[in-house]
Amino acid sequence: MKVLISEEQLQQGISEMANAINARLDNQPLTVICVMTGSIILVADLIRQLTMPVKLGSVHASSYRGATDRGNLDLDTSMLPDLKDANVLIVDDIFDTGHTLHAVTQHMNSLGVASLHTAVLLYKHGRQELELDVDFIGFEIPDEFVVGYGLDYQGIYRNLPYVGVMEHEDLSANEEA
Ligand code: IMP
Ligand code: MG
Repeated sequence: MKVLISEEQLQQGISEMANAINARLDNQPLTVICVMTGSIILVADLIRQLTMPVKLGSVHASSYRGATDRGNLDLDTSMLPDLKDANVLIVDDIFDTGHTLHAVTQHMNSLGVASLHTAVLLYKHGRQELELDVDFIGFEIPDEFVVGYGLDYQGIYRNLPYVGVMEHEDLSANEEA
């Protein structure tokens, strides 16, 4: 595994993102929506650095995929709290094509929220298919398939404390597992 963003760099970038959110959203109560499963670690680190009153909710998004290809998006919103008139911040692990964040954003808008912002740990260059501005971005990365810090390859590697790029040996190790 090649380290792309180290543990220290992650903590630094997340602190900067938290500071930007605190400055921009002021002291208004905020409902943070964790886009499961990939953003679970980011959300845990991020919300502990937010200074406004925070509520937490989640949606589950998955794109049926082969190894690294996107398929149809399945969005489960059944665990959401009441969001009418809430200030909402959607947090996802990575902005790739934009389909996930677009679908989650559209759903939130249909619930009558007072305000809506978006945050992602990673923004992958050269992949965007949908017009969507992300409000808070941790790191911009090249078009490579990354894992760790919540991001997975076929369900594994989410527990790595850094963001890494898989190498050939990681692919074959996975096949043996
Ligand atoms: P989208 O293409 O912006 O809808 O991203 C869809 C989802 O694909 C993200 O929320 C991630 O869960 C996953 N994804 C996209 N790129 C990567 C990657 O490089 N590594 C791991 N998961 C990824
Ligand atoms: Mg995801």
